[in-house]
Amino acid sequence: MGHIVKVSKPRPVNLDLQTIRFPLTAIASILHRIAGVITLFSVAILLWLLDLSLSSASGFEAASSILDSFFVKFILWGILTALAYHIVGGIRHLLQDLQYFEELESGKASAQVSFVITAVLSVLAGVLVW
Ligand code: HEM
Repeated sequence: MGHIVKVSKPRPVNLDLQTIRFPLTAIASILHRIAGVITLFSVAILLWLLDLSLSSASGFEAASSILDSFFVKFILWGILTALAYHIVGGIRHLLQDLQYFEELESGKASAQVSFVITAVLSVLAGVLVW
């Protein structure tokens, strides 16, 4: 008596996308999958370019002139950066399969390390391309 029984409590509702923050490990994970898909399509592009360059002397000239443009170099740099991240993140995944970096803190720290290593490799890829 005298008690008001509230059947349904107001539940927290959060549809404001601006306030939702993904954990770093989740970002590392989705980037790894995206990098894998980019790598998949890159194989086709790079094999085509290799085939062109090996087809004949003029094919080689054609392939090198394609690579002269800034836009193509930028794409190639992006491809190499995605590949670098996929390999670095992939090695992290494989280490996790061996039970390393599986805790919240070590998972976050190793994700940060994988980003830093990728950034370094990305700079080196830029030096290689330009
Ligand atoms: C041509 C080369 C490669 C392609 C096209 C490729 C593509 C992919 C794709 C699309 C995925 C996502 C699968 C999914 O999330 O369901 C994936 C996952 C994975 N890749 Fe690669 N990959 C390549 C090379 C490598 C290399 C060299 C490594 C070594 C470090 C690697 C390690 C991994 C691992 C460990 C996963 C699973 C990640 C997970 O459990 O979520 N990959 N790969």
